[in-house]
Amino acid sequence: MNQRIPQRAQWASRLGFILAASGSAIGLGNIWKFPYVVGQNGGSAFVLVYLAAIVLVGVPIMMAEFLLGREGQRDAIGTFSRLAGPRSPWCLVGWVGVTAAFILFSFYAVVAGWSFDYVFKSLGGRISGQSPAQIKAIFGTLLDSPGQMIIWQALFVMATAGIVSRGIRGGIERCSKILMPTLFALLFYLFIHGIRSDGASQALAFLFSSDFSLLTPKVILEAVGHAFFTLSLGAGVMITYGSYLDRRANLFSLAVKVSFLDTLVALMAGMAIFPVVFSAGLDPAAGPGLVFQTIPIVFAQAPFGQLLSVLFFLLLAFAALSSSISMLEVAVAWLVDEKQWSRIRSTWLLSLLAFLLGIPSALSFNVLKSTPFLGSPTFFDFCDKLISSYLLPLGGLAVAIYCGWFLKRTATQQQEAICCPSRWVYPCWHILIRYIAPLALTFVFIQQSGLING
Ligand code: TRP
Repeated sequence: MNQRIPQRAQWASRLGFILAASGSAIGLGNIWKFPYVVGQNGGSAFVLVYLAAIVLVGVPIMMAEFLLGREGQRDAIGTFSRLAGPRSPWCLVGWVGVTAAFILFSFYAVVAGWSFDYVFKSLGGRISGQSPAQIKAIFGTLLDSPGQMIIWQALFVMATAGIVSRGIRGGIERCSKILMPTLFALLFYLFIHGIRSDGASQALAFLFSSDFSLLTPKVILEAVGHAFFTLSLGAGVMITYGSYLDRRANLFSLAVKVSFLDTLVALMAGMAIFPVVFSAGLDPAAGPGLVFQTIPIVFAQAPFGQLLSVLFFLLLAFAALSSSISMLEVAVAWLVDEKQWSRIRSTWLLSLLAFLLGIPSALSFNVLKSTPFLGSPTFFDFCDKLISSYLLPLGGLAVAIYCGWFLKRTATQQQEAICCPSRWVYPCWHILIRYIAPLALTFVFIQQSGLING
C-alpha cells in the first residue's frame, strides 16, 4: 500500500499552511453570511454563543481533522481506509466529506460568480451614483440573466481549477500567500472606514452589547452551526490539508491560529458593514441581500464610493476563491491518491462536472425559480440544505466520535500526536472531542434538519 504514494506533497512552510487553511475557512460565510445571520438573530447574544462554539466545538474538531489527515497521509477517504481499515464503515465519513465538498463547490461558484460580476460593475462605475431602487434592480437583473450568471460561474470555476491544478506548493500555497494578505489589507481598510463613520457606535452596540433575552435554543443552535460552517469543518478539507503537514506540527497551535483569523475576519467584516448600514439608516436584518443590495446602496452615496465598492467586492471574490480551492482540492486529492490520476486531469474533469452540476443552481434564481426539487423550493436550496444542514454536521459528528472513541491510541500517543508541549491541552481536547462536540453537533443536526422544531 505504501509504495503507491511516492513522495507526497507537503506545505513549504507553517505560514503557508495557516494562510491556506484560513483561506478555506474565511469565505462567503464570513463576509456574506455572518453579518446577515447576526442581523437576523438580533446581534450580540448570537455573537457570544458563536465565539463560545468556536472555542468549544470548532477548535477541537479542527484539531481532530488535522490529526486524522496528518496520521493518514492521504485524501479524506484514503485516510479513513488507512486508519480504520479499507472495508471499515468509517470510510463512509470520507465519502461524505468528498461528496459534500464537491457539491458545495458547485453552488458556491454561483454566488462567488456574483461577486466577480459586482467587481466589474463597480469598476465600470455602474453602481456609484445610482438610487436605491436602481441598485435593487441591478441585483434583480443579474439574477434574471441565466447566461450572465453561468458565464461568471464558469470563470470562477476556471480560476479555481487553474490554482488547484498547480498543486499544493506551487498552486494553493502560493496563491494563498497572495490572496490572504491582500484580503486582510482590503478588509482593514474597509474596517477603518467603518469605525470612522457615524454609525460606528450603533454597530458596536449591535454586535457587542448583550441582550440575553434573544437567546432562544434555535438561536444558540444556529450560532453553533455557523461556527462549524465558517471553519470549513465536516467536509474533509482540514483532513486533506492536514495530510500535507509534517509530523512535528503543533496541531493545537495551528487550529487556534486558523480559528482566530477566521473569527477576526468575521468580526471585522461585521464592523466594516454595519456602521455604514446604520449611518445610511438601512435595515441590518436585510438577509442574504445585505451585501449585494444594502452595501452597494450605501457605497453608491458615499464619498469614494466607487473605490470602496470595488475593494469590497474584490474582498468577497478573494475570500470565495480561497475557500473554493479547498473544496476542489478535497475531491482532487481523492482521485490523485486513490485512483492515481494526474493532478491536472483530475482537476479539470472534476471542475467540469462541478460546473455542470452548478448550472441548475444558477438557474434556480430565474428559469427554475418556481420548480421545487425534492422537497426544497429550488435546486439551489436543496443543495444548500443537503450540505449545510445534513452532510457537514454529520461529517463533523462522525469525525468527533471517531477521534474521541475509536482511534486506537493510548493517551500518551495521542498527546504526542498533537505535538503540543502544554500539559493541559490534551486532557481538555479529549473531553471536548469525546463529549461536548458530539453532543453539540447532534443538537445542531437535529435542529437544522428540522427533525424536531422545523
Ligand atoms: N468556511 C467557508 C466559508 O466561511 C465555507 C465552507 C463550509 C467550506 N464548509 C466548507 C469551505 C468546506 C470549504 C470546505 O465561506
